[in-house]
Amino acid sequence: MGGVVGFTAVMAPRAVLRASLRPPAAAAGTVTIGGDLSVNRLGFGAMRVTGKGIWGEPPDGAEARRVLRRAVELGVDFIDTADAYGPEVSERLIAEALHPYPRGLVIATKGGLTRPSAPQWVPDGRPQHLAEACEGSLRRLKLERIDLYQLHHLDPQVPLEDSIGELVRLQAQGKIRHIGVSNFRLEELERARRVARIVSVQNRYTVVDRTSADVLQACTRDGLAFIPWAPIARGSSEALEKGAGSEALEALARAHRVSVFEIGIAWLLAASPVMLPIPGTSSVAHLEQDVAAAGIRLSAAELASLG
Ligand SMILES: NC(=O)c1ccc[n+]([C@@H]2O[C@H](COP(=O)([O-])OP(=O)(O)OC[C@H]3O[C@@H](n4cnc5c(N)ncnc54)[C@H](OP(=O)(O)O)[C@@H]3O)[C@@H](O)[C@H]2O)c1
Repeated sequence: MGGVVGFTAVMAPRAVLRASLRPPAAAAGTVTIGGDLSVNRLGFGAMRVTGKGIWGEPPDGAEARRVLRRAVELGVDFIDTADAYGPEVSERLIAEALHPYPRGLVIATKGGLTRPSAPQWVPDGRPQHLAEACEGSLRRLKLERIDLYQLHHLDPQVPLEDSIGELVRLQAQGKIRHIGVSNFRLEELERARRVARIVSVQNRYTVVDRTSADVLQACTRDGLAFIPWAPIARGSSEALEKGAGSEALEALARAHRVSVFEIGIAWLLAASPVMLPIPGTSSVAHLEQDVAAAGIRLSAAELASLG
């Protein structure tokens, strides 16, 4: 008995030290993308570091770079972006703030959506466009190879097989490591998987919008990372409060003394081991709150209360 007590007494300070050294994002555990990229399950979406309407420069460039650096300090090692954010601004800011990149940082970008003007998001899945888009992302991000390159959106004018086929070519050329898709329905994912090794899906998914539940189920079954966009319903407590289970959401937020947004992230993390939320923000204060959600554990009864 005495030995056990002695052992505990000696080990406890080390355990405490280890816990205190662990960055907040690590509390979410890890997910492995494509079999070789292990990242903390709380990522960052870098769409909001651009100007209003995801167009042009941010109002405060220094704060945008601070947000990106703080994310990494908090243990975030998966950053999602796209050439369409700004356009080009988000990718450029990531390089400005973080290059040379810390070891293990995974930057996932996307191509296949263009921005002819601020309100327009126009798909372009032509192979030639994707090849050019990938070159632009490599240049702006100052990378020789992009760890995860995602087709941002299917182009209804281009066969899915042609767009994904181009990503396979870019992969064979060593310009991208892994291929992901975004805004894909289940049957589209199945078609894409016949052409390429798809390692991730990025679809809208929140506590109040579970339209992609079938895609999430397939990802969980087959070990593809599922990257839910707008994970906190775009920061709209109104949107969260309108959804099913909204009273339960607020009750949990009160019980855990956190915001409904943090409960939304904790619910996502509990939904699947392949879930990799990427909340987005332009503010360090919001970022710190969002990453803290990695440490919230909801009980089975609490999860059941959210449906
Ligand atoms: N694949 C796609 O088609 C697609 C589409 C949309 C987004 N995405 C990706 O998903 C990421 C997240 O999506 P999203 O930015 O639309 O939605 P989101 O993460 O659900 O919400 C972001 C919004 O919430 C606010 N917010 C963040 N943390 C907050 C907090 N703790 N308290 C209050 N408000 C908070 C932010 O405002 P502040 O800036 O004021 O904090 C921002 O307006 C994007 O960055 C992007 O990487 C992908």
